[in-house]
Amino acid sequence: MKILLIHGPNLNLLGKRSPEVYGKTGLDEINARMHGIAEEGGAELRVFQSNSEGALIDAIHEAANWADGIVINPGAYAHYSYAIRDALASVPLPAIEVHLSNIFAREEFRRHSVVSPVVVGCISGLGWRSYACGIQAMIGLLKDRKTAKKTK
Ligand code: DQA
Repeated sequence: MKILLIHGPNLNLLGKRSPEVYGKTGLDEINARMHGIAEEGGAELRVFQSNSEGALIDAIHEAANWADGIVINPGAYAHYSYAIRDALASVPLPAIEVHLSNIFAREEFRRHSVVSPVVVGCISGLGWRSYACGIQAMIGLLKDRKTAKKTK
């Protein structure tokens, strides 16, 4: 089981950026925790962060060559990037969208995600635990799919 964890723009600043909204945990620490969760679940985790839309799209495309699933925090791109939405819809991989903050309780422009319709599910508002839930859910989903294939 191979999972790609993608962090979108400005998430490299986690820990320093609006800690009252996004928490005090930095990106390296979050990634270390996610590696631990993946290992426990028997999955291999690769992590990618970029501040540019094109690089995120390329990473999604390339994941089709090696990954079984994608967990993505698209950052602000969630609210308006049809290109990232199309990239996720163009690869035959299940994806889970995560947000640290509760986007539905924030400014109007954050309450809508153009990415949500093309992912399996969306986890929002649990801080770094949104990522933990996303990785755990992806591992469960991939295990279910494996079992379903075997019993076919
Ligand atoms: C975010 C929410 C977005 O609205 C914001 O632009 C981010 C972070 C979150 O994780 O809560 O960059 O995706």
